[in-house]
Amino acid sequence: MKKKIFVTRKLLKENEEKLQSLFEVILNPKDKIYSPNEIIEGSQKCDGILSSVTDPINAETISKFSSSIKIIANGAVGYGNIDLQAARDRNIAVTNTPDVLTDATADISILLLLGASRKAHEGRLAAEKQQWIWSWDFLLGKQMSNRKLGILGMGRIGRAVAKRAKGFGMEIHYHNRSRLNKELEQGAVFHENIEDLFKQSEFLSINCPATPETVKIINRKNLAYLPPKCVVGNAARGDIVDDEAMVEALKKGKVFAYGLDVYNGEPKIHPEYLKLKNIFLLPHIGSATKRTRWDMAFRATKNLEMFFKGEKPQDLVN
Ligand code: GLV
Repeated sequence: MKKKIFVTRKLLKENEEKLQSLFEVILNPKDKIYSPNEIIEGSQKCDGILSSVTDPINAETISKFSSSIKIIANGAVGYGNIDLQAARDRNIAVTNTPDVLTDATADISILLLLGASRKAHEGRLAAEKQQWIWSWDFLLGKQMSNRKLGILGMGRIGRAVAKRAKGFGMEIHYHNRSRLNKELEQGAVFHENIEDLFKQSEFLSINCPATPETVKIINRKNLAYLPPKCVVGNAARGDIVDDEAMVEALKKGKVFAYGLDVYNGEPKIHPEYLKLKNIFLLPHIGSATKRTRWDMAFRATKNLEMFFKGEKPQDLVN
């Protein structure tokens, strides 16, 4: 008998067809954003859940899941939306989708740095209002070439950002939980702590996962270490940044500009970010290309398939 999977969000057609060929599937054709209770109710008679970044699956929700649920396949590389300990306690496997979104997300990281440093937001506003004329000092930004780029989190995405940034002639510095080997480092300079990294970072790209250790790690104290007029990009998670401290740094010009794709309490956006000019905002589209979204959902499906065949899923995280 086919295993039954509850899919929390509407997937691309090809991904839904693939799932239907393997499992009995409860889809979400209207793409409603379910509340935790609706996920609990909807998945009552299911064996697994295919979740997305928009599903907060905390300990309380997990404690109310039907005992038939054996796996949560999260369709994302990040899994901060799922309480891993609670899943472990109930013997529920959790998987993610690494690798397949590395390039798309690294591209967006570069776009955030470029969009922020070259005042893309202000440029767009001026163009839209037809209130502009070329002049020598119009919208002067900060150039990336030959600057030092600090990368916070040198995992797959951080390394792909480094590769791209070298094309701009940037010098790469990084901080990571542990130092990479020479082959992975590719000449990047390791800093043992955030203070040392930030002191070097004329540009800073945030590419670490959100964990209890990294939540609000971009705070008043650490922002103070950055050189004046630093450019910051965040393609990772909103909760890594203390928004109040960032707003203050942007207002004071300590941070020249901030580009971000991710937010605390998405889809809400801190109201000050919407007022500031030295901001470049995107609506969490780091992995939003058709190819990447296909690959992510196929990868989540593969994890489900392996799990129900009795194999260890390739992307088990707990
Ligand atoms: C997207 O934000 C992801 O974690 O895959």
